[in-house]
Amino acid sequence: APQAIIAPSILSADFAVLGPECSKTVNEHGADWLHVDIMDGHFVPNITFGAPVVGKIRSHVDKPSTPHGKGTFDCHMMIAEPKKWVRDFKKAGCDLYCFHYEAAFSDASCSPEEKSELKTSPGELIRYIHDEGLLAGIALKPDTPVDVLWDILESPIEKEKPDMVLIMTVHPGFGGQKFMASELPKVAALREKYPDLNIEVDGGLGPGTIDQAADAGANVIVAGSAVFGAKDPGEVISLLRKTVEE
Ligand code: DX5
Ligand code: ZN
Repeated sequence: APQAIIAPSILSADFAVLGPECSKTVNEHGADWLHVDIMDGHFVPNITFGAPVVGKIRSHVDKPSTPHGKGTFDCHMMIAEPKKWVRDFKKAGCDLYCFHYEAAFSDASCSPEEKSELKTSPGELIRYIHDEGLLAGIALKPDTPVDVLWDILESPIEKEKPDMVLIMTVHPGFGGQKFMASELPKVAALREKYPDLNIEVDGGLGPGTIDQAADAGANVIVAGSAVFGAKDPGEVISLLRKTVEE
């Protein structure tokens, strides 16, 4: 499997001091990426923050020197109409734009012309994200079968292939939920076919569940409450990394 990448979810950080929390998590606690959960109160039943906040906290963390390098802002877009926000997030300093498969076909709540432009297939959306100079990820909710991904991963058009797949191990919307081991066969199926793919898991991960996720083949590990709720976040981050590398 590709290298282990630990991406703490700042959803569980103290929002009143988000900038310092971000820099501390990368520079002191040794996180690789920061996982930034964007929720619109529509695609998921919760609201977090948008591009203006991402832009403000971006300056607290060094930009990655390589495409997947340390400090990558991994924006998990739990929003309807994901195409509409690519440019704003690019400007804000997002490095990896990970949209939900289930939202990629969603209509825009705007004019008919805008609607037809925003109604896009996952492959087209991935190309659009790449054309904007960002890495592209595609996420699946627990109820979506992994089979929807095969055509996308096999696309003959290189620019329409994702840089990462995210398999949700909770129903998106909130931190601190119980890990769903039922989602791991999706990870295993992906890993069997794609030894080099970045496969991210998100939801309920921590010292108690990392073994199963690593065994299934996940290499990009999101953890919110397990990292920010810990006495020693650095210790949790290195334990997660060690388990994936073993
Ligand atoms: C859930 C978010 C997750 C969340 C994970 O909708 O996508 O990234 O922050 O939190 P924990 O690790 O606490 O389950
Ligand atoms: Zn997330």
